[in-house]
Amino acid sequence: MRGINHVINPFFCIFAFERFVDMGKKGFIVAIDGYSSTGKSTVAKLLAAQLGFIYIDTGAMYRVVTLGLLRKKLISNGTVDNKMLSQVLSSMEIAFCYNDSKRCYESYLNGELVEDEIRGMNVSANVSFVAALPEVRKLLVEKQREMGQESAVVMDGRDIGSVVFPHADVKFFMTASVDIRAERRYKELLEKGEQVTLAEVKKNVEQRDYIDTHRETSPLVQVEDAVLIDTTNMTLEEEVTKMAEIIRKKYESRD
Ligand code: DC
Repeated sequence: MRGINHVINPFFCIFAFERFVDMGKKGFIVAIDGYSSTGKSTVAKLLAAQLGFIYIDTGAMYRVVTLGLLRKKLISNGTVDNKMLSQVLSSMEIAFCYNDSKRCYESYLNGELVEDEIRGMNVSANVSFVAALPEVRKLLVEKQREMGQESAVVMDGRDIGSVVFPHADVKFFMTASVDIRAERRYKELLEKGEQVTLAEVKKNVEQRDYIDTHRETSPLVQVEDAVLIDTTNMTLEEEVTKMAEIIRKKYESRD
């Protein structure tokens, strides 16, 4: 595999990963898909911590690639320079290393920890274009499948239950009204000190919904066997309680 193979410190990453191999039944997959800003990653992190599973944020993977392409000036006006894409992807050092104390993976680009930068508006405004590129998806899906083999995981994204792990043990599909999602995201960005308006955030959320559901490769869909979680009128506690109960039942019934 190109690009993603270039980890900064492979020994650290492999070592850190193996230490958690005992966490839960190997290969038990909880897939959480859904629209942007429905709280997928918040709920996934809490579930993973409560159940002792590993949390994998696949959106972060698309974000780190986007940041790499932005830094190389390969994205302009919603289009990515395809001619240079393969070359740039293979020269990018992308790594996802397990952070022991935070109990989650963190994203690195060319040796730099970029967890904060990948959540900013510039990356958010461009990530859907990058996530629509088949070449990028192929690379990242392979990586996600590898990461899912080693322990029990909660993985969130857009295509986890449909493409990455169509045989996931438990699948959820999260949704909420656009207004609620935009408000939540707006508050998060303000807390981080970003200068944005609610209207801009709402436009970005709607635009990402459109691109995510209309792209040719692995569009966002609610698969038949996914449990729908509409968070518009739910508290975080209610979401976690409901989802954890569903997971526990399935987990206990599996060998
Ligand atoms: O979950 P997020 O907002 O961090 O995701 C960022 C973008 O990446 C979003 O526009 C959809 C895309 N994505 C995807 O296409 N497939 C995934 N498995 C995860 C995210």
